[in-house]
Parts: sequence; C-alpha cells; structure tokens
Amino acid sequence: NYYAILMAGGVGSRFWPASKASNPKQFIDILGAGETLFQTTFKRLSKIIPSENIYVLTNARYVDMVKEQVPQIKEDQIVPEPEMRNTAPSILLGALKIYKKNPKALTVVAPSDHWIKEEDEFISALQQAFDSVENEDRLVTLGIEPTEPNTGYGYIKYDKENKEDLKKVDAFTEKPGKKKAEQFIEAGNYAWNAGIFIWSAKFIIENFKEHLPDSYKVLNKGESIWNTKDEKQFLEENYKLAANISIDYGIMEKSDSVYVIPVSFDWSDLGTWSSVKTELPSDDEENTAINCRLLSEDSENNIVSTIDKKIVVLKGLSDYIVVEDKDILMIVPKSEEQEIKQLREKVMKDF
Ligand code: GDD
Ligand code: MG
Repeated sequence: NYYAILMAGGVGSRFWPASKASNPKQFIDILGAGETLFQTTFKRLSKIIPSENIYVLTNARYVDMVKEQVPQIKEDQIVPEPEMRNTAPSILLGALKIYKKNPKALTVVAPSDHWIKEEDEFISALQQAFDSVENEDRLVTLGIEPTEPNTGYGYIKYDKENKEDLKKVDAFTEKPGKKKAEQFIEAGNYAWNAGIFIWSAKFIIENFKEHLPDSYKVLNKGESIWNTKDEKQFLEENYKLAANISIDYGIMEKSDSVYVIPVSFDWSDLGTWSSVKTELPSDDEENTAINCRLLSEDSENNIVSTIDKKIVVLKGLSDYIVVEDKDILMIVPKSEEQEIKQLREKVMKDF
C-alpha cells in the first residue's frame, strides 16, 4: 500500500545559470555525482516503495526529461501540470489519483531536489512514519535539527521532553521572518520541516476538503476521468482554478493533526551554491570543482562548475562562485549569492 508523490515541478532559480526553467535543478547533475538529483531521489524511494507506485508530479514541459532520465517510469505514473500552481494543488491531484487506484494507499510526498547522506536512516524514518499513519489519521513530517535562523524553512514546534519517536506538533510556521526565526532557535524546541510528508491518501484529501475546500471541489470533479484520455483536457481547463499556494501555508499551518519524527541524518535542501559546496569535497585551499578540472593558485574557497569538464585556471581569486553554462558565464562573490535570483531576472529582461 506504499505510494510516493515525487515533486519535480520547481524551477530552481537560485542555481541559475546551471539550473533554469528549461532545465531545472532536479534534472541536472548539480553535485557532479554522475546522476541527477531526480534520478538519485527515484532510486532512494524505490528502496521502500514499489517503483510502479511512484507518481511524478511535474510541469508538462518536463515530462520528456522525466522519461529520459528514468525510463522505467510509465506514462500513467507521470502527472503533467499544465501550469505552475505551487505544491498544494499538485499534491492534491496526486492524492486524488492515487486514492482512486487504492483507497488504502499510504503516501510519502518527497521533493526531488534534496540531498540525503545516510539513505538507510532515511528509509528507517520513512518506515516508522508509514507505520504511524497505517491506522491513525495523521499528517506526519520529518523534522531536522536546526542550526541557524534560516528563513527559507518551515518551523515545527514540539515538546522535546516527549521521548516517543512520533511527537504531536504544537505549531507549524512556514518561512518565518528573521526575528521570529531567531526566537525559535533561541527557544530550542523547534525543528526545520524537511518538506517530506507522510499520510494516507484518504486523510490528506479530507484535510483539503476542510482547509482548501475550493481547490478540492475543482479538482475532485475529475474523479471519473482519472487515468483516461480525458484527463489532460480536464486539467487544462481546471488546474488553473485551484488555489496557487504551497502545502505548508495551505494545510500544514492550519491542520491540528500534524506530527513530527525528528531525524538526525545529514540532509540538505541544496538551496544555494554554498550549501552544495558543503556536501562536496574540496581541495587544500577549500576550492570545490564540479564537472571540471581546476588548477588554482593563491585562490581559496571558490566553487567552480562548468559543462563538458573544462579545465579552469584560477589565480588570485577567493570566495567566488564561478558557473558556466552553454551561453552564460556567471562570476559572483559567495557573500552575494542571494542576489543570483535577481541577476537572473535582469538577464532575462535585458538580453
Ligand atoms: N510538481 C510541482 N509543481 N512541484 C513543485 C511545484 C509545482 O508547482 N513547485 C515546487 N515544486 C517542488 C520543488 O521542485 C521542490 O522539490 C518541492 O516541490 C518543494 O518546493 P520548494 O519551492 O523548493 O519549497 P521550499 O524549499 O521553498 O519550502 C519547502 O521545503 C522546505 C525544505 O526544503 C517547505 O516545505 C518548507 O517548509 C521546508 O522547510
Ligand atoms: Mg526547496
């Protein structure tokens, strides 16, 4: 009864120019690992979920990429969204289709662009989570021990004294402001939301009915045509009518049936080039080379990524991000990597 909704519809704009709307982060080998993050994630989930039960939710424009990267995924496991409406509608759509196939389905929702070091620990946490939703109506998420007041994550408040593996969540706060995040870290009884959710298809649908009733009504109209040739047209007409909102704001903040399993494996959502660097080896001067060969002198703490395994020569350059793509070369100080999103927009506008 195990199923997965693999989320692969994001654009990954902070990794521009390596990642772009036509070829986003999850579909590139951003770690220079020999396979893409999407391929790694699919393999990881296949360890516990029958691969024919893994549904890929993605934008219509990425369908060919999905097929090419994991040929064993069948047509009916790919759910193409006609437009980007954030994660809530996409998760609802996946849940409705899976529920129709198997009303007893237990489902994990997993991002396709994360890095997890200890796969076995991930699998055992997932197993624990599946067990905990087998007979109980719960929304379970995996919680990461936070290390800094990062405002890019959801924060989960829970009772740290509770020694059970599964803990009731007191409050879920999606992407708090800096001040709040600092208070949360100070308080100590918070975890970061890893964005990996476990629940029964039936119960998440009930939560949509309660918290996003309009989206539910719009998409549930398609019930009789799921997995038929009429599905595409139905989605083209109706998907855009579902609320454009993330699952975190739309459901997790509102539901009072949220539980967390704190996990201790090394995890990263690879949100920035610096976080990618942290997971990769570097040379004696802390330079990290991805898909290239690096000759560096008097140069420290750079991250360099090319295509076609170029030789890159650096002399006297420190703390920079150097990323080459087919027709763009970007050189930006590491301290300003948050600006990459805006730089990308400027380039798209001006060139
Ligand atoms: N299919 C589909 N359609 N997938 C999407 C869409 C969409 O419209 N939008 C985003 N995704 C995918 C992304 O590719 C990613 O794998 C996942 O859904 C999560 O979306 P993000 O946009 O990356 O969310 P986030 O990182 O800002 O925040 C979420 O993840 C954090 C941990 O990384 C939240 O769940 C936070 O609470 C959490 O801390
Ligand atoms: Mg993310």
